[in-house]
Amino acid sequence: MPRPSPAPPLAPLEPIRWADDHLRLLDQRALPVVTADVLCASAADVADAIREMVVRGAPAVGIAAAYGVVLDARAGRDFDDARRVLAASRPTAVNLGWALARMAAVTPRTPGALLAEAQSIHREDLVQNLRMGELGAALLPDGATVLTHCNTGALATGGHGTALGVIRTAHRQGKLAGVYHTETRPWLQGSRLTAFELMHEGIPAQVIVDGAAAHLMRARHVDWVIVGADRIAANGDTANKIGTYALALAARAHGAKFMVVAPSGTFDLGCASGEGIPIEERSVDEVVTVRGQRFAPEGVRGFNPVFDVTPAGWIDAIVCERGVIVAPTEQRVRAMLG
Ligand code: MRU
Repeated sequence: MPRPSPAPPLAPLEPIRWADDHLRLLDQRALPVVTADVLCASAADVADAIREMVVRGAPAVGIAAAYGVVLDARAGRDFDDARRVLAASRPTAVNLGWALARMAAVTPRTPGALLAEAQSIHREDLVQNLRMGELGAALLPDGATVLTHCNTGALATGGHGTALGVIRTAHRQGKLAGVYHTETRPWLQGSRLTAFELMHEGIPAQVIVDGAAAHLMRARHVDWVIVGADRIAANGDTANKIGTYALALAARAHGAKFMVVAPSGTFDLGCASGEGIPIEERSVDEVVTVRGQRFAPEGVRGFNPVFDVTPAGWIDAIVCERGVIVAPTEQRVRAMLG
């Protein structure tokens, strides 16, 4: 199991740090109240950390998995075993399988070559996010008000962020009037992590409960809803944090535009449509407890899907580092991704 250990203060936000013989993961379950690292010494440790949400967010999960492979290679453990245990940790974000496929393509599979590849995956993600930030911000009008969901910032990626990267870039360009962000039940990635990142950067923002989004769009003006993605099918259907689909429907009903921001490693061209995307279901305990404290009757039954699929028809633009896919269709996705 990963070992808990104290960590330095949170600036800059570095969720994943390679430390020669181990991997340090900022424990995102404890943020922002407690800043602590979890130390991983094997692929199995990293897989546990992914499953338990120590590290989360599609790109960050892929980066952590790549380093997990390196840990096992350095210890002389079997590559395929490491790949299997990591691939099984969470099902929806395709960045995990994408990063593991990149690691599998390394020849020869020496620890040094594998580490270099993991570090490239990590570095490239930041570069891609900065590019997507520029492309996405260019779609926003001056004085834009935006709504975002879940956490898609530096904590969920190799830095800067996907949807939050667009928001960061737009803020730096002076284009943003303000940001609303959902709390994102049940893990509260919005109120814990996105709020933290926005405040860290001095971006004016207000949190809303997830159920307030449609009312917000009717009662106040929202120009764009901006979200990340965990897997984008060949036809543009997009899996993202549960609640994203409802945001897309409300956006269309109230005249707000809907933008998905994700690097090319989030596309799964082998998956024809959203029907083929596996949707992770987690324990109902996550819905009926907060920090281990139960608030629903003992024995209550439930359903806890943690992602949903937004059909491409509700998406105005998908921004990836290669460009912007306006009104995505299979033809446009394939033309951009090649
Ligand atoms: O369950 P999580 O916290 O891993 O879910 C994260 C999201 O759904 C993000 O929006 C997504 O990974 C896209 S961008 C980092």
